[in-house]
Parts: sequence; C-alpha cells; structure tokens
Amino acid sequence: MTRTYKIAVIPGDGIGPEVINEGVKALTKLAETDSRFDFDFTYFPWGCEYYLEHGKMMAEDGIVQLKEFDAIYLGSVGYPGVPDHISLWDLLLKIRKSFDQYVNLRPITLLHENMCPLKNDKKDNIDMLVIRENSEGEYAGAGDWLYKGQKEEVVLQTGVFSRKGTERIIRYAYETAKSEGRSLTSVSKGNALNYSMVFWDQIFEEVGKEFPDVQTQSYLVDAASMFMVQQPERFEIVVTSNLFGDILTDLGAALAGGLGLAAGANINPERRYPSMFEPVHGSAPDIAGKGIANPLAAVWSASQMLDFLGYDDQGKRLLKAIERLLIDGGCLTPDMGGQASTADVGSRIVEYLSIV
Ligand code: NAI
Ligand code: MG
Repeated sequence: MTRTYKIAVIPGDGIGPEVINEGVKALTKLAETDSRFDFDFTYFPWGCEYYLEHGKMMAEDGIVQLKEFDAIYLGSVGYPGVPDHISLWDLLLKIRKSFDQYVNLRPITLLHENMCPLKNDKKDNIDMLVIRENSEGEYAGAGDWLYKGQKEEVVLQTGVFSRKGTERIIRYAYETAKSEGRSLTSVSKGNALNYSMVFWDQIFEEVGKEFPDVQTQSYLVDAASMFMVQQPERFEIVVTSNLFGDILTDLGAALAGGLGLAAGANINPERRYPSMFEPVHGSAPDIAGKGIANPLAAVWSASQMLDFLGYDDQGKRLLKAIERLLIDGGCLTPDMGGQASTADVGSRIVEYLSIV
C-alpha cells in the first residue's frame, strides 16, 4: 500500500524557489524508488511579491488551507522593499504559532572534515542535535517601551517561561535522547537569570526523574559556547531556550559547514497540525536569480521531513547522498568554493541516490 502525503510547498522569496526546486527533485526521486510513499505537492505563491500585490504575506485563510497538509516545505521569506518584521511575523511566525510548532530541531553534523573551520576536528566529533524551544522565552514578544525618546526612556524585554512550555520541550528532549540512546545536555544560565533559568534547571531535573537511564549534563550557555568549539564531542542531544538556541545553532552551523548546509525543522510533536521544514538561511537577495545558491540546506531539510514522516531510512539515504557529494567535491556551489549551479548540485544528488 502506497501512502500519499500532501505537502504544501511555499518557495517564498529570493533563492527560496531555487533551492526548494532541488529538494522537491530529491523527494520525488525517493518516492519513485520506494513503494511505501508518494508525495502530492501543492504550491503556494506566498511571500513578499504576493505582499506587494495583495497587501498581505499569505491568503486571508492561509492557515486554514495549510492545516489540511501532512507537512509544509518552505524556502525562505524576506526581500528588500518589504520590512523584515512584516515578512517574518505575517508568514513564518504565523505558521509556527498557529500550528504550535514548539520544537525547533537543528541537526549539527559534520559530514565532511573539509567543511569544518576548526583545526584537527574529526568527523565523528561533531554530531549533535539541538532541540530549541520555539514558542516562548525571550521571543514571546512581551515587554514595554516607556518614555520613548525621552531622557527617562526604559525598555523591558521579558522572557516568558511557562511550566507547560518548559516541561514539554524538556520532555521531548529526554524522549529523543532515550530513543536514540544518547546523552542529553541542557544549556541554561541559572547563575545570572535568577528566575527563568533557575526555573528551567529545576524542570530539567524534575522531568529527568522520569528518564533515569538518560545520561545528562547541564552547562551555562557561556561555557557551552566554549565547549562547542573546543570539545564538540561533549554534545549529543542538546536542549535549550529560544534565544540561546538561536545563537548556539548559528555557532553550530558554522562548525558543520555554514549556512549553505544548515537545516531546521519546526515540529508539532502531537501531529495535531502540520510541521514545517526549511533551510535555516534567508532569501539571500545578493545572489538571488543567479542560479548559484547552495541547495544542500534545503535538501537536508527534506531529509528531516522524511524522518518525521517515519521514513528515516530514506532520510539517512538522502544525507548519505549529500555526504558523497561533499567527499567527491567536484560539484559544489561557489559558497563552498566550487563552480556548480544550484540545479547541477540538485541533479547530482539525484544521481547519487541511485548508488547510496
Ligand atoms: P541570508 O541567509 O539570506 O544571507 C546571508 C549571506 O549568506 C548572504 O551573503 C547570502 O548570499 C549567503 N547565503 C545564504 N544562503 C545561501 C545559500 N543557500 N547558498 C549560498 N549562499 C547563501 O541572510 P540575510 O542576508 O540576513 O537576510 C536576507 C533576507 O532573508 C532578509 O529579508 C531576512 O529577513 C530574510 N531571512 C529569512 C529567513 C527565513 O525565511 N527563515 C531566515 C533569515 C533571514
Ligand atoms: Mg537565527
């Protein structure tokens, strides 16, 4: 029996459509070779161009339309001419919030030593999964701006940590660590953030009682950033807050090959709503339209989608194809020092899928 998955594709702006094309090529190839699943892609023209024409980033009932899908595959949004806070809040964050995608999964895996800027780092040393809280913390939008422009001016940006929000992300991380048989590291800052991070540490311990077999460590975020560079092998599964996760995963992306390779998934673990898979990078207006954007981050996020849908054997296969491409080294885009086009790289990935 073949199961057909309905995928909503939002290519978005700039290089978004260019890289998403290549991810769709890989997904289509995998579906052809595996009788268990098929994909039915539906494209949505939403983003900044749509905004300039219609005065909004997505259709009025966009969220209702998307709700019917099994997953969302997104390129990137944002373009000069439309303020970034509009493109971010009215499309990306709207989807993340409406669909309660409270887990942000960012794999940081070094597939080829050449991609790592550190001296002497071996491939096996950098293989972690960062689980970032994706719904509250410092990005909840809570605060105030008092006496604007006056001498007495005061701004407040409040970190919001609910018991429900903190428990669910930490529990998700423990469950992941347990099922993968790996250690779990919590990154916080209880010495200085005497409410939010003391609370976080307390919940980390409380929930940990349900998982006596999971080996844990807890680091302050400053120490964690140092260790990520000096001894990345300390980290396997990592759980952290929204702000710390944002910063640490960019550091992690740099360790594993840069923006051209960094993928991220926004997950609703209960599967009540569709989850969203996207490259971490933005719309790169400086290179858009030239056909030279690196599609590997988009391809990697397609592999995360396969994992999430339950075909992690195929997700791994896609990663193997990326690994082969990096080892071979002859078909890379300019950001990685090569001369290949976006489409060349996508086609080479499809070729490798026949042999990995
Ligand atoms: P960016 O990620 O678009 O670009 C940063 C630099 O990395 C640029 O020099 C770009 O050419 C390069 N780059 C990024 N992805 C690449 C790829 N796949 N291949 C080769 N080079 C790549 O970030 P930037 O410039 O800060 O933002 C541009 C726009 O994208 C803004 O409007 C911003 O709001 C939006 N943005 C959207 C995101 C999303 O949709 N998730 C995330 C980050 C930014
Ligand atoms: Mg970021």
